[in-house]
Amino acid sequence: MTEPLEFRITLYPDPILRKVARPVERFDDELRATVRAMFDLMYRSQGVGLAAPQAGLDRRILVLNPTGDAAQADSELALVNVTILDRSGPVGIYEEGCLSFPQIYAEVKRPERCRIRAFTPEGREFEQDYDGFTSRVIQHEYDHLEGVLLVDRMSPADKARHKVALTELVERYRRGQPASK
Ligand code: CO
Repeated sequence: MTEPLEFRITLYPDPILRKVARPVERFDDELRATVRAMFDLMYRSQGVGLAAPQAGLDRRILVLNPTGDAAQADSELALVNVTILDRSGPVGIYEEGCLSFPQIYAEVKRPERCRIRAFTPEGREFEQDYDGFTSRVIQHEYDHLEGVLLVDRMSPADKARHKVALTELVERYRRGQPASK
């Protein structure tokens, strides 16, 4: 019998957050259990989206639910090996948070619409257009698969405003690491 998967949030500046994540190769029960555990972690953390590197996994998997409400499972979206084919529309500014940067929010500019190609956890390939908040969440989470983080998208003013909090995260990470030789 296998243990149920239970992931924890990977916090900045863990190096896994800086890697370009690797594609999923097998669409099997293990993948579907991983996706389910990612949704569980996202809901537990009160997020609306989560990328696999944030669960410590080097894989191109995103889960999101723009409602943030586990009861609204119809709004769940799990994207495997996702590619953003196109971004379009006016550039909007929105205050984004990130589970890997607790308590830090910053205004980020992104085009309003995106078109993606992805696979479902069952292995079915599809293309779809998104706009509004869902498009925003997809673009944020997609950044994680490319090793791009909220801190990279911040204005210099936001970065200065969050300097103390960012330094604290770096120090907390260092304290959690074994002493270097
Ligand atoms: Co994030």
